[in-house]
Amino acid sequence: MKTILKKIDIDNFTLEELDQAATLLRKGGLVAFPTETVYGLGANALDKDASKKIYEAKGRPSDNPLIIHISDKNDIKNLAKDIPDMAYQLADVFWPGPLTMILKKKDIVPKETTGGLDTVAIRLPANPIARELIAYSGVYVAAPSANKSGKPSPTQAEHVVRDLDGKIDMIIDGGKATLGLESTIIDLTGDLPMILRPGCITSEMLERVVDHLVYDPAVLATKPFSDVKPKAPGMKYRHYAPEGNLTIYEGAMDNVINEINKNAEEKCRKGHTVGVIATDETKALYRFGIIKTIGSRKDEASIAAGLYQILREFDELKTEYIYSESFTDNPLGQAIMNRLLKAAGYQIVKLS
Ligand code: TXA
Ligand code: MG
Repeated sequence: MKTILKKIDIDNFTLEELDQAATLLRKGGLVAFPTETVYGLGANALDKDASKKIYEAKGRPSDNPLIIHISDKNDIKNLAKDIPDMAYQLADVFWPGPLTMILKKKDIVPKETTGGLDTVAIRLPANPIARELIAYSGVYVAAPSANKSGKPSPTQAEHVVRDLDGKIDMIIDGGKATLGLESTIIDLTGDLPMILRPGCITSEMLERVVDHLVYDPAVLATKPFSDVKPKAPGMKYRHYAPEGNLTIYEGAMDNVINEINKNAEEKCRKGHTVGVIATDETKALYRFGIIKTIGSRKDEASIAAGLYQILREFDELKTEYIYSESFTDNPLGQAIMNRLLKAAGYQIVKLS
């Protein structure tokens, strides 16, 4: 299959430019498009054959459900039933934006889209290209992150090309995904609202709208979990994994830097390719290996936005050992560390 690559200027585009993509979606095709979190791989969510194609293209396990993207808040009524008031309140505050809600599904939503579950994940994205594309196509758009299963989520069209070129109908290049981490997922089908995946809508932000927010225990895991089964099936897979061996160092910054320098030197001496995930503030203090800055500690959003890009860059450089600083001390830290820990297979060294 020849994949069409189409550039669209996020600040200045016409509906005509989205016509081919919208037609492809209507006909059951696969179109990758930018969202504010990461790039999504879209298909008609109510067409079970189209949904199945997503799993094939990504190599995704069939029990891992898809998020349905809508362009109008009122569409939740068409996809979900027994919707609690809380869902409308959350939609009013956080949509369009990086929040996904789990609700009870209506029969119209095929189980091929929900991985066999009776619930459905719904999100109204903020990216204007995504929103206009969904509205113009006239279909609800199922879209997982547009990476090959097991790779870091794509934050640029180039990443999608690398993973899915020749396997999907079209890729819309709308520039960099500004947030860089997948949406926060909140499950509203239980007694209490539960966070299944932390993201840029933090628990502090959610707690302004909902009382008694709880966490899926798997989200808080600090080691590989065999005993807790995550409620978001996708969170059980070893996601976001770089090819190299990634270790995180946590502790006083001087100790972290010393320890990373020591280990990087030792591995370099043995002839290995070594990478260091540093920040703008610490970059100059590392002395061995390929040193890359993920962002600035003064701007936690820049760290979230840089994470997947840096992991992909180290993959391309065939880095065998990657050493990273830890980011627990910033407000977005929970989401960043959730992804980083998974990428590291929970290898974290705690220094005093
Ligand atoms: O930011 C995002 O959410 C991006 C963009 C494209 O919107 N999408 C995304 O999709 O991250 P994906 O497929 O990579 O991750 C979806 C996650 C998976 O962990 C999946 O298991 C969970 O959502 N999920 C989907 N439907 C669910 C449901 N009914 N119950 C529990 N978890 C669900
Ligand atoms: Mg994904």
